[in-house]
Amino acid sequence: MSGRSIPGPNAQPAGDEDAGPGRATGRRRRWPFSARDDELAAFAAYLDDDAVSALLVHGPAGVGKTRLAEECLRHAERLGHRTERAVATPTGAALPLDALGHLLPPDAPVHDPVLTFRAASQAFPPRRAGGRTLRTVVLVDDLQLLDNASAVLLGHLTRTGAVFVVGTVRTPVPPSDVVESFEHEESTRRLDVAAFTEPEVAGLVRGFLGGPVEHATLSTMAQASRGNALVLRELAVGAVASGVLARDAGLWRLTGRLTGTRRLTALVRGRLAHRSPSQHRLLELLALCEPLSLDVLQRGGHTDDLETLEEQGLVRVRIDGRRVVCALDHPLYGQVIRSGIPAGRRRGIYREQAACLASLGARRREDALRLASWRRAAGLPVALDTLLPAARMARHVRDYPTVVDLLAGVQERDATLEVWLLRGEAHHHIGHWAAAEECLSTAEGLAEGDENILTVAMERTQNLYWGLGDTTRTLEVNSRAAARLDEDGRQVLRVNEAAYRLYSGRVPDALRLLADAEAIAVPRLRMWAQLQRSLALSYAGQDDAAAELARTVHEELTAAEGEQRPGSPSSHASGPAIYRIAALTDAGRFPEAREVGRAAFAQAVAARALAPQIWLAAHLGRCELIAGHLGPAHDWFAEALGLARGHQVRRAVAFAGAGCAIVLAQAGRIDRADDELTRIQGPETERQQASLLMRQLARAWRSAASGAAEEGRRILAAAAEQAREAGMASYESWLLGDAARLGAAAEVRGRLAELAAGSDSALADARAGLAAALIDGGHQGLYEVAQRCERLGADMAGAEAATEASAAAGRAGDPRAAAAAAVLARRLLDRCGEDRVAAPRLPTTAVRPLTDRERHVARLAAEGLSSQDIADRLVLSVRTVDNHLQRIYAKLGVVSRQELVSVIR
Ligand SMILES: Nc1ncnc2c1ncn2[C@@H]1O[C@H](COP(=O)(O)OP(=O)(O)OP(=O)(O)O)[C@@H](O)[C@H]1O
Ligand SMILES: [Mg+2]
Repeated sequence: MSGRSIPGPNAQPAGDEDAGPGRATGRRRRWPFSARDDELAAFAAYLDDDAVSALLVHGPAGVGKTRLAEECLRHAERLGHRTERAVATPTGAALPLDALGHLLPPDAPVHDPVLTFRAASQAFPPRRAGGRTLRTVVLVDDLQLLDNASAVLLGHLTRTGAVFVVGTVRTPVPPSDVVESFEHEESTRRLDVAAFTEPEVAGLVRGFLGGPVEHATLSTMAQASRGNALVLRELAVGAVASGVLARDAGLWRLTGRLTGTRRLTALVRGRLAHRSPSQHRLLELLALCEPLSLDVLQRGGHTDDLETLEEQGLVRVRIDGRRVVCALDHPLYGQVIRSGIPAGRRRGIYREQAACLASLGARRREDALRLASWRRAAGLPVALDTLLPAARMARHVRDYPTVVDLLAGVQERDATLEVWLLRGEAHHHIGHWAAAEECLSTAEGLAEGDENILTVAMERTQNLYWGLGDTTRTLEVNSRAAARLDEDGRQVLRVNEAAYRLYSGRVPDALRLLADAEAIAVPRLRMWAQLQRSLALSYAGQDDAAAELARTVHEELTAAEGEQRPGSPSSHASGPAIYRIAALTDAGRFPEAREVGRAAFAQAVAARALAPQIWLAAHLGRCELIAGHLGPAHDWFAEALGLARGHQVRRAVAFAGAGCAIVLAQAGRIDRADDELTRIQGPETERQQASLLMRQLARAWRSAASGAAEEGRRILAAAAEQAREAGMASYESWLLGDAARLGAAAEVRGRLAELAAGSDSALADARAGLAAALIDGGHQGLYEVAQRCERLGADMAGAEAATEASAAAGRAGDPRAAAAAAVLARRLLDRCGEDRVAAPRLPTTAVRPLTDRERHVARLAAEGLSSQDIADRLVLSVRTVDNHLQRIYAKLGVVSRQELVSVIR
C-alpha cells in the first residue's frame, strides 16, 4: 500500500462518462489515463523518427486502443503538431472519402481524384518548429472500417511526409485491404495493447474512486474484468451506481456482487447474438458447466461449433495438466448467458452433464464437487456420501459459501457430527456467527471421544470469542469440555484458555498456562500454542524472542500448508505472520515487519482468508503508526476496519477503529478522530486489552491535538498503569513513549528505562533514550537518539528528536550541528509522508537550501569524484570547487565526504 494521504471527508469518485458527480450535471468526464507509459513513449519515439509514418494500435475489443490513440494525439498536440481525426464507421466504409471529407477544403473537387489529392496535400502543409518539420497527426479509429479511397489518400499523405497516422485495429482482424495496405508499408509500426495487469487495475480503480480501495475488492475487480479497460470501467461505474461499491470508513469496498451496467450487458449480448442453435447450446453448456474437457465436448458433438466460437474469440481452449479444457473467453459472457437460460433447460443441462460425468467415473478430486453441485442444481437427490466429499473438497479450497450451500440440503436427522462441524466452521468463516454458534452447540451435544470433543470446543470457543465477542461463554465452553477430557485434552484446552486470557489482558496468567507449549504432541495445537506464547512474550517485552518463535511456526506451517492448521485467526498459512508483525513492530524492526506483513497479506487476499486479511492489515497499520508513517497507517487500518465492519468482526473493529482514531488525531483531524472514537464505543467486554489501550492512546492524542496536552498526558499515564497491571510491557512502553513526546519526559523517564532494561526490544531502548535525552537537553544526545531511530525506521520519533537536537544546537551556538540535525529531521519527516503529527515543528530556518550549482557539486562529490575531477567536469578552478564544498558542508551540517554521502542519498 502506498503512502497515500488521508482522504478528506468529502472524497468522491473521480467521475466518469456516466457515473459519479458528472452524471447529475450531464457533464461527461473520463477516467484518468494511466498505465500506458511505455506505449506512449514508443509513440513519441516513432513520431520523432521520419522513417516512421504510421502506428497501428492492435488489441482485442475494449482493451483501451482508442483511449491510447487519443492520448498519443494529445501528446503530439503538446509537442506542437497539428492533429486531426478521421472517422471510420461501418456505413462509411462504402462511401469514398467519407472518413476524411471533413478534413478537405470545402471547395475540393471530390469527383476528380488527381485534383483531390493535390488539394489534400495543400490542406496539410507541413509546419516547421524548432528547426524540425512537424507532421499532422491523424487518428483513424477502427482502421479496418476505413473506406478504400480514404486509405489511399492517407497513404499518399504519409508518403509525402505531411501526415503521421495513428490507427486502431480491433483483433482478431477480419480480412481488410485497408489494414493490409498500411501493414505493407515499411514505414508502418505496430503496437499490441494488452489487458491491464493487476497492479494497473488497482491504480485505475483507485484513480476513479479517488481514494484507498480494499485489496480484496481490487482483486475481485481485476479478476472479473480480466484487465479489460472497458469491462473494468463498466463494472466500476455500475457498482458505484448500484451502491455495491461504496465508501466505508474512508475505504472503498464491494459489499455485494458486481453486475456492471446495462450498457455492458448490451455490449456482451451484441457480441453473443446471431449464433446458430447448436452454437447457442454450446455457449449455454459452457456458461453453466465450464471448464469442460475437450473430450467431453467432442463426445457431445460440439467439435465444429467449438472451432468457430474459438476463432471468434468467444471460447478459449487451453491445456490444463494432461487435459485440454474449454471455457468461455470472459467471465461476463457466462454471466450474461446464464441470465438468459430458462430454469427447465438449466436443470436439463445439469442433469445431462451430471450423468456424463458419472459415466466417466468422476475420477478427479474436484469431480466430486462438480457432481454433487450439478445433481443438486438438476433437482436430483444427492446422497450424503456424495455431498460430504464435495463439502470437504470445497472446504479444502476454502470455498465456505459452497460448503454451506451443499450441506444445506442434508436433512437434520441425517446430519452427522462432521456435517455440523463443517457447517459451523464454514458459517464462522463467512461471518455468520450466530448460525455458526447454532451448528457448533449442536455439534457439542453429539461429540464423543476426546478428539471430537476437543475439535468442537476449539471451533466453538473461537466463534464465541472472535465472532460473538463473548468472553464469559468462551471460557465456560472451554472448561466444560476440559472436564470431559483426559490430561492430554485438558492440556490443549489450557492453551486455548491461555489465548483468551491473553487477549483479555492477563499476560502473566497466559504465560503460566503456556509454559509447556513446546511439549504438546499434536502439531497443529502445538503451533497454535507457540503463536499464543509468541504474542504473550511480545506483550511482555520479549519482542525478539517472540518474533523468532512466530517465525519458526510461520515457516513450519507454510511448509505444511493444507495439512495442519492451528486455531483462529491463523487457519490460513498467512496467519502466523500476524504474530510476527506484532512482535517485529514492538521490537522496532519495521522494515522486516512490513515485508513479512505485506507478503502474507497478499497471500491472504489471494486465498480470500478473511480473518488473516483483517488482522494482517490491522497490524500493518499499527506498524506504520508506530514508525510514524501516518498515510499508510491510515490506509491499512481503514482496510482492516472496512472488512471487519462488513463481516461484523467486532474485536477487529475495536482494534482497527482505535488505530484509525490515533492516526487521525495525530494528523490533527480532530473531527474525524472523534467520529471514529464514537463509532467504536461499545461494550468493553468485546474488546481485547490491546484495543482498549489503543483507544486511550487515541483519546490522548485527540486531546493533545486540540491543545489539551496536559489531559493527553493524564490519559496516557492512566492507560500505562493498566498496561502495567496487564503485564503488557510493550504497550506500556508505547504509551509512555508517547507521553514523553507530549511533554512528560521527566515523569516517564524512570519507568521507560526500567521497561527497556527488562526488554530485548531496540525500540523500547530508543524510547528510553529519547526521554533521557529530552531531559538532558544536550544536542549531541538528541542527535544520537535521532540516528538510532533512523536506523530502526522509527521515523517520526527520530524526526522529533532531530528537531529538538537542532533547536538545542542553535541555543548552544553550534550552527553546524543545528544544520546537520535539521537536515536529518527533514529527511526523516519526508519518509513519514504528507500526514505528519501536528505537534512538532521543523526548524525550517535552519535548513538552507543548496543552489543548483552547489547541488551539482555535492552530487559529484558524493559519487566519489575528487575536487580536481569535479573542477574538470564543470570547467571550474579547484579552488572554486573547494569553496562550494565548504558552503555545502556548512549548509548540510556535515564535516566530511563520507557524511556528505549519507546526507545526499
Ligand atoms: N489507459 C487507460 N486509462 C484509463 N482509462 C482507460 C485506459 N484505456 C482505456 N480506458 C477506458 O476504458 C474504456 C474502453 O477503452 P477504449 O474505448 O479505448 O477501448 P477500445 O480498445 O478502443 O475498444 P473497442 O475495441 O470497443 O474500440 C474507455 O472508457 C476508456 O476511457
Ligand atoms: Mg475503440
